[in-house]
Amino acid sequence: MIQQFEKDVIAGLSSKPKQLASRYFYDSKGDRLFQQIMGLDEYYLTRSEYEVLDTNKAQICRSIRVDESPFNLLEFGAGDGFKTKVLLRQLVEQDARFTYRPIDISDNAISSLTENLLKELPGLHVAGIRNEYFSAIKALENASTRNVVLFLGSNIGNFTDDRAVVFLSELNEALHPGDMVLIGFDLKKDPRKILAAYDDSSGVTAAFNLNLLDRINRELGGNFDLDAFSHYPVYDPISGQARSYLISRKQQTVQIGEHSFEFRPWEPIHMEISRKFDPYETDALAAASGFTVVEHFFDSERNFLDTLWKK
Ligand SMILES: C[S@@+](CC[C@H](N)C(=O)[O-])C[C@H]1O[C@@H](n2cnc3c(N)ncnc32)[C@H](O)[C@@H]1O
Repeated sequence: MIQQFEKDVIAGLSSKPKQLASRYFYDSKGDRLFQQIMGLDEYYLTRSEYEVLDTNKAQICRSIRVDESPFNLLEFGAGDGFKTKVLLRQLVEQDARFTYRPIDISDNAISSLTENLLKELPGLHVAGIRNEYFSAIKALENASTRNVVLFLGSNIGNFTDDRAVVFLSELNEALHPGDMVLIGFDLKKDPRKILAAYDDSSGVTAAFNLNLLDRINRELGGNFDLDAFSHYPVYDPISGQARSYLISRKQQTVQIGEHSFEFRPWEPIHMEISRKFDPYETDALAAASGFTVVEHFFDSERNFLDTLWKK
């Protein structure tokens, strides 16, 4: 795991423009900072998706239970499961026969979520898996039980458009006919509102991005000076991409183990894409990856869409 982290960091900082993969944001400090982000006034995404799930939980659970047969409820990138619990509670109350299998690259996220669920929902069967999205899909191919996959929080927006189609097509191939996916998309809206979600006034999102440099220092023996980088988000309403950068404030050399990296003044490191969609684009993505759209669920302000797809 640490070898892959090191390999990806060295490759990313050697590329032009320099980049780091956002999946490495989530060590235990990153998980904590992301929980703070979810509570920020500017970060409407969590509140909006919570409303979608809470308002539509009865219908969503009816649709995913189908014929009352047992199923696996897999969740890719589960995080702290804050919104998922709305559905889990509903399913447990209905005595649905299912096992919840949260999958996350963060060890800390999986262990805390599992521990917390055992306390909060003692009737729930839970089996957490620490894995990366693509390798988790490979593991799915052997499952004979019916699958329902959750991919919430607009995690899909962290992929480039091409990679999103590859991921969803591979997921589709690994599923059985009739299996379902409930997938959350942050929708296009006033660009100012989107940008503010990644540029909060209290600086938590900046700290979240800078924590990856700190993680490189701690785990890979780097010497990033965090004060010499500043967080800079942009939103492009044509591509629908919110992009976050860390910008080097000066000419500097950063050492990571035996590798050294030169930064010119104001040179960026690309940290994250958070793509926004409209419902036509999400329908096109379903078709391009082999799924049929069953139903759309929106919040009252149409900030967010959770859409149910079927193989
Ligand atoms: C933005 S958080 C969202 C969490 C949750 N889905 C929600 O809506 O609140 C993304 C989560 O996905 C996990 N994650 C990110 N990239 C991943 C990857 N490539 N494979 C597995 N998990 C990943 C992170 O560790 C983190 O817990």
